[in-house]
Amino acid sequence: MTITAHLRKGPAAAALAALFAVSVLAACGSGKTAKEPAAGPAAAAAPAAVLAPVPPMGFNTWNKFGCNVDEKLIRETADAMVETGMLDAGYRYLVIDDCWQVERGADGRIIADPQRFPAGMKALADYVHGKGLLFGIYSDIGPKTCAGRPGAAGFFDIDAATYAEWGVDYIKVDWCHCDDLDAPTEYAKFRDALRGSGRPIVLSICEWGRNDPWKWAKGVGQLWRTTADIGDSWDSVVWIVGANSRHADAAGPGGWNDPDMLEVGNGGMTFDEYKTHFSLWAIMAAPLMAGNDLRAMTEETKSILLNKEVIAVDQDPLGAQGRVVIERGYGGQVWMKPMADGSRVVAFVNYSKGELDQYVRWSQIGLPPGPAKVRDLWAHKDLGIHTDTGRHYNERFQVKVPSHGVVMVRIWPVEAAK
Ligand code: GLA
Repeated sequence: MTITAHLRKGPAAAALAALFAVSVLAACGSGKTAKEPAAGPAAAAAPAAVLAPVPPMGFNTWNKFGCNVDEKLIRETADAMVETGMLDAGYRYLVIDDCWQVERGADGRIIADPQRFPAGMKALADYVHGKGLLFGIYSDIGPKTCAGRPGAAGFFDIDAATYAEWGVDYIKVDWCHCDDLDAPTEYAKFRDALRGSGRPIVLSICEWGRNDPWKWAKGVGQLWRTTADIGDSWDSVVWIVGANSRHADAAGPGGWNDPDMLEVGNGGMTFDEYKTHFSLWAIMAAPLMAGNDLRAMTEETKSILLNKEVIAVDQDPLGAQGRVVIERGYGGQVWMKPMADGSRVVAFVNYSKGELDQYVRWSQIGLPPGPAKVRDLWAHKDLGIHTDTGRHYNERFQVKVPSHGVVMVRIWPVEAAK
């Protein structure tokens, strides 16, 4: 696939194309030259930044379909990603999670389930690429995947070469059956195998935060899970947000904390809860991997996953992971993410059982005293100019937030609002 095809739908396509060109040159260079990066974390950072300058977005089969994956599902999902506008909104990677693989051949090469994927992975990748999407797959550092399929242990190089040949652009690598292994060492070896394949492939590290990946994974993979698996429930979202929020320092262009894939649209939460789930993933600059059936989305689900104003928060090139700036103690939380254009995104979250009044002062979100333009990112409405001179308490900016809901606004100091 060409660089242009990789980037066809991207917001900053030109800049990214230049970066990809650098990556391809680095990956495909003939032999070692003075410019080729030496092994080690510092050298590794350059290609990592190229592969994921903003958090990856896409779809992954696991949350909705588990082991029930086949080529029909993938083709139909690829079609749906285009038809529903998901691709236009930025969701590019179509990733098959566990259970696509059944065994290894005598030559050591991994074999896709011939019943479920009769046309083979190369043909499927071609179909996905033909839609302007990127193709992702799943493996495990250990001898078996979490669902007991063949893992990568002992076969890193041959697998990387096979995946490159198939046209894989993204691989999620799990950590089942790996208890006695050293995660930084193993994932670095896997990264090196991917590099050796000559194809730029995003490495999604999935060791569930067991080995403090926020300390070492940048430069190894482009995203790393920080927690155990998400479930389709409000309690799960609340728990994951608490855990993922502790590692904000580690995130930035090239490497992202991954609080796991989205559950939006899977039925276990209310509309408000799903909006909060999505808003928090966006303000935490998390990878946005949809995990619902894209072929059958309700209008409510589409209004969440396709909210381009919230997606822009996630995809902002500054790449800051938002943080809690106010913890009220009665179920109210205020989050802030600084944006590349100098604006601030603020999410008022309500974990309590009733409606809450929430508020913020400009001084609490790093804005200068004075007027600022405010826009509501869920109502898609300008709320006008709000002035907080810092001199009067009643100048605070105030909203009402429904139970388990969110109000998300973007605020530009007036000098920067053009
Ligand atoms: C682990 C991962 C999940 C999923 C399953 C597949 O639990 O954390 O995201 O990939 O394995 O078996």
